[in-house]
Amino acid sequence: MSPFDHRMLLKDLPKTFVWVGILALSLMLVPPALILRARAVPTEQRRIHIIQNMDNQPKYVDQQENILFADQRSMRPPVPGTVSKSQMVGDTHRFLGTVDGEFVTDFPEGIVLDEALLDRGQTMFNVYCLPCHGVTGEGNGIIHERAMVLVNTGTNGTTWVQPKNIHEEAIADQPVGQIFWTITNGVRNMAGYGSQVRVDDRWAIVAWVKALQLSQNAPADMVPGSDALPVRTKVAPGMEMDEEDAS
Ligand code: HEC
Repeated sequence: MSPFDHRMLLKDLPKTFVWVGILALSLMLVPPALILRARAVPTEQRRIHIIQNMDNQPKYVDQQENILFADQRSMRPPVPGTVSKSQMVGDTHRFLGTVDGEFVTDFPEGIVLDEALLDRGQTMFNVYCLPCHGVTGEGNGIIHERAMVLVNTGTNGTTWVQPKNIHEEAIADQPVGQIFWTITNGVRNMAGYGSQVRVDDRWAIVAWVKALQLSQNAPADMVPGSDALPVRTKVAPGMEMDEEDAS
């Protein structure tokens, strides 16, 4: 017999060895079975949490007691008289977009109307405004589209106010200070972004809104070489179809 013949090898083992082997193999199935059960069956008990990944750290959370301070609050109130930089309104032109209670018609000192400002304004507009107002500000952003699906299917009683088209005359005529005010404080159904967008960035967005408004209604003489452009004489293809269908 060859020493590598496993059948012979198994037969030659003492009986107890075989039984202990079978028992050990069966016992090895128990931990995975317990783990699978723990994953599948809900329980009131705390999970066993072996890999901590810094999930539990010594720290104070909101409203927690802290005996270090006489008033035992872990959330420290600001020192009386503190004014946050974002609440400084000494320069109302810059921080509120108003002078003597009237919306300003020009940008505050220090905001330079150049390409960099427009670039910044475009970036910030695309982050904070485009989802609702759309890429050109017509009020048809992706959130509006989605909301209309929910409204039209009557999902969860959704109601929706369409974001304004910033090219509407009433808005195109607004002074820059009013746009700044709207971004900062919101207007009717629109929330304000004063807490999320820094002052200078809000002015940059104002500049971009003004640029968008101009881009959609620019008089021909403001566009260099516009007289060389072809004049649109035909009705849009979709419109033609409709007329034929109707007749
Ligand atoms: C969550 C959606 C949403 C976002 C984001 C949003 N808006 Fe609006 N916006 C609205 C809605 C809705 C209205 C109309 C509110 C109404 O008529 O009740 C509106 C109105 C406006 C108006 C018209 C104000 C007026 O006087 O009628 C302007 C200008 C405007 N938004 C600019 C912005 C700018 C700039 C941003 C980005 C900083 C922005 N919005 C972000 C939803 C949004």
